[in-house]
Amino acid sequence: MPLPLAPAERERAQRIRAMFGRITRRYDLMNHLMTAGRDQAWRRAAARALQLDGRACVLDLATGTGDLAFAVREVYPQAHVVAMDFSEVILREGVRKAQARAEHHVTWAVGDALALPFPDHAFDGCTNAFLLRNVVNLELALREMRRVVRPGGRVVCMEITHPQTPLFRELFWVYFGRIVPLIGGAVAGDLQAYAYLPQSLARFPAAEPLRQKMLAAGFRAVHYRLLGLGTMAIHVGVV
Ligand SMILES: C[S@@+](CC[C@H](N)C(=O)[O-])C[C@H]1O[C@@H](n2cnc3c(N)ncnc32)[C@H](O)[C@@H]1O
Repeated sequence: MPLPLAPAERERAQRIRAMFGRITRRYDLMNHLMTAGRDQAWRRAAARALQLDGRACVLDLATGTGDLAFAVREVYPQAHVVAMDFSEVILREGVRKAQARAEHHVTWAVGDALALPFPDHAFDGCTNAFLLRNVVNLELALREMRRVVRPGGRVVCMEITHPQTPLFRELFWVYFGRIVPLIGGAVAGDLQAYAYLPQSLARFPAAEPLRQKMLAAGFRAVHYRLLGLGTMAIHVGVV
């Protein structure tokens, strides 16, 4: 089914896909550097927020190099994960890592978060890290995640957020807006991609407005938890 996107949105999505393909090689290293090594602990916290029991099938959307899919498997050894991303290039790095760690319970798939190729209620839960800032239609992405999770299942969204303390917000923007692009230029060789990071956050809703958007998309009991001195949010919605 063709995506209900305007030509400008389609073009922006293509640019974002190409950008993640370009930065694949240094993607994990940059994540660890930018977060002072906290990113994996945050992914495990996001996985725990799914609150699954026993065997479950989980969709990890925008899986990139697969770290959240692996975190879900770590927290729920009986779960199976479908790890999906619209960039085949970055997904291949996830497949490589899965082979290196003999991880056989993750299925890798290319697909778009805005038009998920799954029937309604196909999964027990859905996770995503650093997706929502990047989608060209946030409401559609939320509705699609809700559609493919069974009633009672949880959707867990982990994303950078706007710190709430004014002084810390200022400091954070110096770091995120000025220093991170320089690190990205030096380490990943792509200043443009890491200058996009603060731009994408600048137009992204803060934690409470995002909670409201999840409620408007039909989720129940939506709540969030702030981590990383208030720079990271894990939102949970029940279907
Ligand atoms: C910042 S990376 C996050 C990767 C991974 N989740 C993590 O924890 O590091 C964002 C990913 O979202 C993917 N992405 C962005 N828009 C997407 C869409 N509409 N559908 C599927 N994947 C998308 C990109 O290709 C990229 O791999």
